[in-house]
Amino acid sequence: MSHEPAINLLKRLVTRAAGEGPEPQPMSLHVPVSSYTDPARFERERQRLFLRRPLIVGHESQLPEAGDALVFDWLGLPLITLRDRDGNIGTFKNVCRHRGMRLVQDEGRTTLRSLVCPYHQWTYGLDGGLRNVPRSETFDGLDTAQMGLVALPCEVRGGLIWIQAEGAMDVDSHLAGLGADLELFDMPGFRFCASNVRTVDCNWKLIQDAFLDGYHVVRLHKNTVGSFFPDSMAESDQVGDHIRSAVARNEIFDAPGLADEALDIRRLATYSYTVFPNVVLVFHPDYTSIISLFPKSAEQTVFAHTMLTPHAPTSEEEKDHFRRSFELIDQGVFQAEDIFVSVGAQKGMHSGANESLLFGGLEESAIRFHNIVERELA
Ligand code: FES
Ligand SMILES: [Fe+2]
Repeated sequence: MSHEPAINLLKRLVTRAAGEGPEPQPMSLHVPVSSYTDPARFERERQRLFLRRPLIVGHESQLPEAGDALVFDWLGLPLITLRDRDGNIGTFKNVCRHRGMRLVQDEGRTTLRSLVCPYHQWTYGLDGGLRNVPRSETFDGLDTAQMGLVALPCEVRGGLIWIQAEGAMDVDSHLAGLGADLELFDMPGFRFCASNVRTVDCNWKLIQDAFLDGYHVVRLHKNTVGSFFPDSMAESDQVGDHIRSAVARNEIFDAPGLADEALDIRRLATYSYTVFPNVVLVFHPDYTSIISLFPKSAEQTVFAHTMLTPHAPTSEEEKDHFRRSFELIDQGVFQAEDIFVSVGAQKGMHSGANESLLFGGLEESAIRFHNIVERELA
């Protein structure tokens, strides 16, 4: 499988590894601290960047069977995403149509046979339809066909489950061609392995900044994954509002002179995609990470990390290997390093030390991201 624009990024890294490529250009962007702290600014971001745009809420392999559900209050909305008996995946507001009680109480991944409201036991099917109303004869003019759960637009594309909170959803125009990249990395074929959802005390953009920056890889990650990479050898492109980046791995120095067919995109570089606004897909050599950021406020964000593997584990040994890989990346790298610095930066935001944060030529992808955010908010 090939996809020229994505392979070109790797070729640019190979050229640089051969000492022939252009070096990063000096540049500076100053992002005001208020962009990470101001509640009014945050509300504008929520309205303009999140509510009226397709967002990824999971991978379809997280819901393999009828009744499998993801229950999360994303974007401050109580939502439930589930697979029905016909195999379709839908997203509904987790709110009873009678007097508004929350239907499924706990957030997380679960399996349901139907949705029964604890208050008066109105019962909904997996397709959201209202199936049963106790003592229904006591309601005057109740039209049960009109009283199903409130659905949001929900579609599976590239193996990912997309929803939109407000307005009609058009995933294809939002993807702007990124679908071919999802195919290249076999997003539809990979399988759910593990996930962790936590709330972190920082602005959502600080985490995007950390994932868009090749500058820190050999420094912040020096005791974990840093030794797999040369210093700051990264390339990126903009695809619609999304950013395709690749950070060269040490194997890149063996690549100059190889035929195009011999260029292994998962071994020579770590590709990551910032799917605008709130998701990062990271393609490690033998697994994939989906990081979804759902801000709760200017200074608090839900960080959901899901690991996908090429197949379900075929032995105890492989299961153990996947488990250890998840622990290393989720706890050792993301929690102890990338989240650590994002939360650490948020703590100093009100100190008055900086009026703005500074980004340079090795942080060019983050500069692109901030330019897109500013354009969308303008
Ligand atoms: S509020 Fe749900 S059945 Fe009454
Ligand atoms: Fe990092």
